[in-house]
Amino acid sequence: MEVICCKTYDEMSREAARAVAQVLNAKPDAVLGMATGSTPLGLYQELVRMHKKEGLDFSQVTTFNLDEYVGLPTTHDQSYHYFMHENFFKHVNIPLQNIHIPSGTTSNYHAFCEWFEKRIVDAGGIDAQILGIGSDGHIAFNEPGSSLSSRTRLKTLAKQTIDDNARFFSSREQVPIYAITMGVGTILEARKILLLANGKKKADAVAQAVEGPVTSMITASALQLHPDSTVFVDDDAAGKLKMREYFDWVQKNKPGAPKV
Ligand code: GLP
Repeated sequence: MEVICCKTYDEMSREAARAVAQVLNAKPDAVLGMATGSTPLGLYQELVRMHKKEGLDFSQVTTFNLDEYVGLPTTHDQSYHYFMHENFFKHVNIPLQNIHIPSGTTSNYHAFCEWFEKRIVDAGGIDAQILGIGSDGHIAFNEPGSSLSSRTRLKTLAKQTIDDNARFFSSREQVPIYAITMGVGTILEARKILLLANGKKKADAVAQAVEGPVTSMITASALQLHPDSTVFVDDDAAGKLKMREYFDWVQKNKPGAPKV
């Protein structure tokens, strides 16, 4: 696991965007795994800027989103469909037919989840998966206790997640209690993983994910098993990392490190 500690949210967003751009420069038809939530907003803004000002091209890109609330129509302003189109897709040039977001309104969730997994495989697998982290340590909607080999499926949200996400809805009662989510096993199959976290509220979850034991109680800790995962944090989210000094040392000495 590589841990990149940044001074600010903006710096974290720019560093992560640079990593995504590197993937696209090496493979213009890359398959990207997309995340929602407030955390990746700055990353998306930076990618949009790179697209508009520096010609970063998404015309051959395919995307798969991590998750969606069950029961919200795609037009609902808190649906992840709406979020992705408003904050990213409508500002770049990804062909609409290349965009995949789990359906929160299908009449057959089991069949849909199987189809979604198959689409990922048919697209050649995910090259780079963007992730946020819940304050309970979840990735996507893989709540504590989720199997570390889970696949795309229906999930009941934890109370903590409903509380955290209530700020986006007019009342707590409006927050859906079910979601469809890629599994931890699905996520671990991505070739590269980029997890972003900012703010003091994420400091405990980040420390447990990076330095704690691998456990289904903190599903982000499964990333320790991945051969190419990078964690981008701002100062606040890095606040409880015991190895902070070492992580900074590694980054400082990177330019002179022997090439692998
Ligand atoms: C939701 C999403 C996660 C996201 C998390 C954190 O639970 N399913 O993918 O990482 O929220 O959201 P935020 O970035 O707003 O803190």
